[in-house]
Amino acid sequence: MEHQTQNWVKVAELSEVPEGQPKAIQMGKGRSIALFNVDGRIYATDNQCPHMGYPLTRGTVRNGILTCDWHRRSFDLEGGGCFHVECDDLRTFPVEVRGSEIWIEPGDLTYRRAEEHKQLLREGLLSEDRWTMSKAISLLLKGGVPEEEVMGTILAHVSRHIASSHGAEGGSDVSRLINGLKVGRRYSGADRLIAVTTAACSASGPASERLEVVPLPEPVAWEKISRWVRNFSYEGQSGRIERCLFTAYHKGDADKLCPLLFECAVEPHFIDLPHIPLYVSYLSEVIDAFGWESASELFFYLGAQLVGHRPDEPERYRRDAIGLMRQMLPTVENAALEQTLEFDEDAFVAALTSVNIQRAFEAVQSVLVDGVKLERLITTVVLLAADRMASTPVNVDAGWENLTTELNLAASLRSAQQIGGNKVAAKGLFHIVWQIFANRWINIPSRALSQPLSQEKLDVPNQAEGIKHIIGTIQTLNVQEVGVQVLGYLNAGYCAERLLEEIGHTVLWDDTGSQILPTLRTVFEEWKHAEGHPAQYQLLVGLARYVTDIRTNKENRSAATTAMRFAEGRTTIEVFEG
Ligand code: FES
Repeated sequence: MEHQTQNWVKVAELSEVPEGQPKAIQMGKGRSIALFNVDGRIYATDNQCPHMGYPLTRGTVRNGILTCDWHRRSFDLEGGGCFHVECDDLRTFPVEVRGSEIWIEPGDLTYRRAEEHKQLLREGLLSEDRWTMSKAISLLLKGGVPEEEVMGTILAHVSRHIASSHGAEGGSDVSRLINGLKVGRRYSGADRLIAVTTAACSASGPASERLEVVPLPEPVAWEKISRWVRNFSYEGQSGRIERCLFTAYHKGDADKLCPLLFECAVEPHFIDLPHIPLYVSYLSEVIDAFGWESASELFFYLGAQLVGHRPDEPERYRRDAIGLMRQMLPTVENAALEQTLEFDEDAFVAALTSVNIQRAFEAVQSVLVDGVKLERLITTVVLLAADRMASTPVNVDAGWENLTTELNLAASLRSAQQIGGNKVAAKGLFHIVWQIFANRWINIPSRALSQPLSQEKLDVPNQAEGIKHIIGTIQTLNVQEVGVQVLGYLNAGYCAERLLEEIGHTVLWDDTGSQILPTLRTVFEEWKHAEGHPAQYQLLVGLARYVTDIRTNKENRSAATTAMRFAEGRTTIEVFEG
């Protein structure tokens, strides 16, 4: 039993540590100390190997060098220095033998290694090593480093990674990063860590230096810059846009940049490129979450890649749609938007799903000219997309990528409206409607959103059993059943948010975690917006069917769980046995 005087602690009897037989001592919560007797002298070290947490009492000591038995990292037994550059030093403790007793001085355990662990995180991101990233993130979070700071380190890497090895598709890394952050905020502990780590892992990879961008020489007023950006966007000249954005920022026009990118992203020639407006929306959220100082490099480079993307030559349907949208825009732009909540939603949805692009665009034009509030229209298109996920046939190709893009793009119109204004969101509606038309091959039967859903209730004694039942169905990949069960659960009056959290928890711990982050986040946020709508439940039904169908049943938990316990000071043996 340990006995304490001031800072010294009695940890063992000398007789308990014979030569050549190290002993592990538990100190405080989860902390394990290793005692070694070498030639009659006692040494005390952390028992957790700084590499991956193997107990060092199982290692060997020769010539004052302690070697871990797992991956053979070796340390100076006395000072703790590690002989391998990519591994932390080992913590050692002063020892005194007082008569027959061993005393150690555990010292100040305050966390002071944030910079070291940020560097470890950067190394993990560069080498795409999941364990290193998980370990660094859990150590930083456990040490009390704010999540924003940890994410800021990840963001700095992502910016370089995207700028040195990606074009517009780098937006998918940003999507996982920002959605991982947003989803992670809904959880705590290990669930939060896994959301953050999943986001980090999906954005890892090589990153190199690039030439510094400098502002354009004066005189360059904002009017000129914004006109040039629109022009280069239309011509697909991404490189020229980056310098314009950079110049505007340096001239103090940062707050005009997100709206400008939104304006470009919803232009008719980007129809059929749903990721352009979607990623612009995620990029502006990155600015919101991290600020210009941390995120400007990413913003200028990726923003330019996105709105400067050169679309392929349009095929007939797309060419017609672009022409139609151009014709209709003047009426929409001059309309008095945002007047009423009233409109015939079922007729609107019937037009959108009519597989007739002229009819669908005319329906959009008409509701906009009638002044139906955009917020209301966004809810409709979000629920239509969710309804399509809830109804898509899953026996061949359910079209999940296309359907979730419809949903996430529809939800992103809320940021488009907030940041870019009503006209931007109104144009964005045409893009969603085109997506629904372009996804006609999925063959989803058209349904009025006001049509009542099945009223059948799930036959379970209580909410907890209902959740268990549904999670079991997700885990056994029974996509045919899961939608019915979710609807039955909601019909029984059980809590939707609770179920949503549990579904999120289950999939976050699965290998598909990074893929579902954007959609999971959309459903979390859209549930409240859809309150009182007869199709609200389809958000959860669609999500459950989607996550069940794409699930690979490969667990993701080992790196994150081990990292969490590592951060608590536990050794791998305790992790596996605990
Ligand atoms: S070398 Fe010790 S855990 Fe890897």
